Amino acid sequence: MSAPPIIRQLPDAVANQIAAGEVIERPSAVVKELAENSLDAGARRVVVRCEDGGRRLIEVEDDGHGMRAADLRLAMSRHATSKLATAEDLFRVATLGFRGEALPSIAAVSEFALASRARDAEVGQRLSLNGGVEDGFEACAMAGGTRVSVRNLFWNVPARLKFLKSEASETGHITDQVIRLALSHPAAAFRLECDGRVAIDLPASQSLDIRIRALFGKTFADSLIALTAHAEGMQLSGFVAHPREAKPTAKRQYCFLNGRFVRDKLLLAAVREGFKGFLEPRLHGSVFLHLDVDPSQVDVNVHPTKSEVRFRKDGEVFVLVSRGVHRALEANSGNFSLLTPADAAVHAQTAMQAPRQGAPPLAPQMAPLPPLIQERYLPHAPMTHAAAPHPAAATAVDVGRRTSDVGPSQPSSSVREAPNAYHADLPPGVRRVLQLNRMYLLIETDTGVRIVDQHALHEKALFLCLDPAVSDFAAAGRQELLVPRAVELGAAEVSAVEPLLPSLAPHGIEAEVFGPTTVLV
Ligand SMILES: Nc1ncnc2c1ncn2[C@@H]1O[C@H](COP(=O)(O)OP(=O)(O)OP(=O)(O)O)[C@@H](O)[C@H]1O
Ligand SMILES: [Mg+2]
Repeated sequence: MSAPPIIRQLPDAVANQIAAGEVIERPSAVVKELAENSLDAGARRVVVRCEDGGRRLIEVEDDGHGMRAADLRLAMSRHATSKLATAEDLFRVATLGFRGEALPSIAAVSEFALASRARDAEVGQRLSLNGGVEDGFEACAMAGGTRVSVRNLFWNVPARLKFLKSEASETGHITDQVIRLALSHPAAAFRLECDGRVAIDLPASQSLDIRIRALFGKTFADSLIALTAHAEGMQLSGFVAHPREAKPTAKRQYCFLNGRFVRDKLLLAAVREGFKGFLEPRLHGSVFLHLDVDPSQVDVNVHPTKSEVRFRKDGEVFVLVSRGVHRALEANSGNFSLLTPADAAVHAQTAMQAPRQGAPPLAPQMAPLPPLIQERYLPHAPMTHAAAPHPAAATAVDVGRRTSDVGPSQPSSSVREAPNAYHADLPPGVRRVLQLNRMYLLIETDTGVRIVDQHALHEKALFLCLDPAVSDFAAAGRQELLVPRAVELGAAEVSAVEPLLPSLAPHGIEAEVFGPTTVLV
């Protein structure tokens, strides 16, 4: 007698949990899937509510076309979708969803309720499930559209629950997610409520630039440069931000392919190429790019979350995006200079000859740095305070270096010796300081050599200023500003910083959230 088979068919509930592992990494992924369904249903308004970073509750409500009673149960079964019917349809996908997986996956790992009313129906229907098992189906009163409530996410997957971060961190992920969706569809209204607080509230029918302004503040939005470009079967539009708005991470690089946010390596590489010459290599320019490509030219079925794609003509896409970004920056380079060694040297020289008054110190503990060391991005004339030198530095350069040393032929990767004035302030044991590649300090001491990331050093110095144990800042007493200073941040940054504000008070800084992108200090 042969042995019984050891392979068995998994029950639906287990298969759905496995699928959830791929698609639903954290609460923000639930927000993504539900809000994408809303947009696919033609919603003009999407409201997202969350509690406890999405752990206790995530609710997404829309005014889209809704679902008929007969479709509710079907929507909860695996591979059930209204968005495609044949394999060929995969290359005609015009919706955000198409896999027919999201709802059953989410329902498998939560207490789930789907309430919907189709436009032509008199009442709505509400279907509820617990851990993927149906536990209620009834008529309910509601306006046209759909409301999905997800409670106690991952209650039956303790391993997943353990991987979740703090409430603030998960709320931050949800906020970032809503921002991406809102930027992908500026015509739809979006509202995000976190534990009863309205974090984002954007009206319908906004243009992309107005939406960026609402999310990231006026100062940032004023730096935007519009761009459009096209090639056969492809259209690119959107904005790049002035290089001064570059960030150390690629977080503010938003690329949308046919209305879907993607974090695609090819597109990010093309953006980097486009910024070449305008930025230091370690910085990331901010972009908001909408790329529309004939759906037959792109495969969106590469990754379960659809964040990566495959282009048929990847070379052409790369050229379109990199040239589009580069030309937009080039056409506006009257407002800023390219960061070339020659420019850097010329600025350094100009600055040395005509030092300006009133340059704010970098930080009380740091000696003001000479211009070669100061700025990562050099604004074009006129010199701004950030690039203005310390008068002592000017003299020192004259003494310590020949002017020909800073001629245009000097390569940017050269080792530069900081001027003697800098030597004068050096602590005992330090012989001299060299600057490498405008980023690192090479410090020769009596006993050896130290390499310091000067940007990190600056941050540390600023941090120490806030520490009462190290500075006399707090001891000197607190003095309120006559007129509070409004600091503009992005909506996600405001959400992240809000819980931290009370801990700044003992250091003499009183601040409060004042609008979606402003903190009042
Ligand atoms: N908010 C909504 N409004 C109207 N219909 C919806 C809504 N959410 C889901 N549906 C319906 O339920 C079906 C299943 O949704 P689900 O998200 O599971 O799959 P999908 O969107 O088709 O594909 P994917 O798994 O890629 O998201 C959808 O195809 C759609 O017909
Ligand atoms: Mg979906």
